[in-house]
Amino acid sequence: MAKKRILSGMRPTGKLHLGNYVGALENWIKLQDEYQNYHLVADYHVLTTDLSTEEIYQNTLEMVTDWLSAGLDPEKSPMFRQSQIKEHTELFLIFSMLITKARLERNPTLKEQVRDLNIENLVYGHLGYPVLQAADILLYKGDAVPVGEDQLPHIEITREIARRFNTQYAPNDPVFPEPEGMVTNFARLPGLDGHRMSKSLGNVILLSDDAETVKQKLRKAVTDPQKLRKNDPGRPEVCLVFTYHNKFNPEEIPVIEKDCRSGVLGCVDCKLNCASKINTMLVPILEKRKTYEKNINLVKDVLNEGEIKAKVIARQTMNEVHQKMKMG
Ligand code: TRP
Repeated sequence: MAKKRILSGMRPTGKLHLGNYVGALENWIKLQDEYQNYHLVADYHVLTTDLSTEEIYQNTLEMVTDWLSAGLDPEKSPMFRQSQIKEHTELFLIFSMLITKARLERNPTLKEQVRDLNIENLVYGHLGYPVLQAADILLYKGDAVPVGEDQLPHIEITREIARRFNTQYAPNDPVFPEPEGMVTNFARLPGLDGHRMSKSLGNVILLSDDAETVKQKLRKAVTDPQKLRKNDPGRPEVCLVFTYHNKFNPEEIPVIEKDCRSGVLGCVDCKLNCASKINTMLVPILEKRKTYEKNINLVKDVLNEGEIKAKVIARQTMNEVHQKMKMG
């Protein structure tokens, strides 16, 4: 039986942070044998946060370098830019007829954007954001979409659009699957200040940070505010560093929990330990990154080859869509 397909993507905002890694990328890598993966650089979606295009390509290369360094294998997982496959915009247009304006206005991520942006700056593309995302996913007939938790509303909209298309144009022989969102336990790894990890908040650990940087950053991480002195008893359940231990140092969790509560373990040592675990995980990634940094053409080639493969699938799907719509 053919492998099920994964389609997932990220907006190119440059170097990735640990939140991007544990929320999505790590999962992509784990699943690349079991599924047929496709990964897109959402370089049109990124226009919804910044219209200037000067840095998109550079940011794309940085991000794909991180994908590759972390272990995404271009042979198994083609990687490509959304802007290079015209079928995304074509399917987006068709899909935009299949979902109501009211439904898109109820999308919770739109509401967040309205809050973050000045309301007058809201454009038509913001409303259509999940429609383009649905086109991204369904163009490759993605069965599963491993993403951060924040993206689940978009997967729901994708499922609705798939259903709508199938009922309208292909009632006996559905064209599109209804994709499932796949969320990890750490889909929302908090930043060093305890808030959402985000580059704009300056609270991130990058996948490309060296050991010393990680150590310095962790030193400033928030812990239990009631644990003021080294031997005060602490409350792991409110401590950010404990959350990181959960993810990056699961074996020592019982000891850390006990020693933090009893006051034997101070925050400085606890943080040093955590930094060293994160660094151990990052070593091979940093090592691999050097190869790509020395020869960025390797990354460009990965994209070019990924785009050739993606186009084949995209054309097939669009042919099918046009046939079902009697526009073939
Ligand atoms: N909206 C996603 C994000 O901001 C990026 C994205 C675009 C995406 N197209 C996609 C994710 C398709 C999964 C599938 O993270």
